Amino acid sequence: MGKTYLQTAMLLGVMLLVSPFALYAAGFGQGGLRGTLDAPHYLFSASIPANASIFSHMLLGAAVTLLVPLQLIRPLRQRLPALHRLTGRVIVAGAGITAIGGLAYIALRGTIGGAPMNAGFTLYGALMLLAAWQTFRHAYARRIGQHHAWALRLFWLVLGSWLYRVHYGLWYLATGGLWSTPEFTGAFDLVQNFAFYIPYLIGVEIYLRRRFSSPQARANLRV
Ligand code: HEM
Repeated sequence: MGKTYLQTAMLLGVMLLVSPFALYAAGFGQGGLRGTLDAPHYLFSASIPANASIFSHMLLGAAVTLLVPLQLIRPLRQRLPALHRLTGRVIVAGAGITAIGGLAYIALRGTIGGAPMNAGFTLYGALMLLAAWQTFRHAYARRIGQHHAWALRLFWLVLGSWLYRVHYGLWYLATGGLWSTPEFTGAFDLVQNFAFYIPYLIGVEIYLRRRFSSPQARANLRV
């Protein structure tokens, strides 16, 4: 019981921590969609499809970032399963559209950091699409072990966009922006293109292998 309280408090803490970024992303997204941004921004262009994809990805990404910690709160899942299923569908659809929006923008205009950043963010979007689909498909088929595993991967991928900003904030605080350029071409920027989600996914895989170390539990996790 104590562990459940601690987990719940931590997840509510995560919601609180991500909320300033989610509000920022939602404000940016709706301002871009309505063409009412306070100042000109390089992400806003004359291309309607590019604007629609980048700014709708921000709006839905904000909603998904705020909602995703709720899904891991065990008492909520147990007492309100219908809410868990409803929020789950919203998150899967939202994460899917967020990823497709980001990928479409990369295809249409490319990122500010060029090829390395395009590669990092394309892989990020593709993994989010995959995780959202797998989370949904295993839940639908009642394969709860695999559903949990993919939901955990999706959780860390969704938090990745917030973690990207956290990494930059901490790095700039500690070093004043060493190996980072306004064009995102410094050594730190190049590492960051992948470091906001790959290490966390590796952590999830280690956790899953330790937690489900018996052969039967492992078999239950296979796709
Ligand atoms: C998970 C939720 C997400 C949120 C809340 C989010 C939010 C944002 C925000 C606010 C920006 C504007 C830049 C800034 O002000 O920092 C941005 C840029 C961008 N995002 Fe996302 N994002 C999310 C997920 C994704 C995913 C999955 C992709 C995958 C392709 C993606 C691709 C991009 C790209 C390509 C840019 C523009 C990079 C540039 O050239 O500056 N985002 N995102």
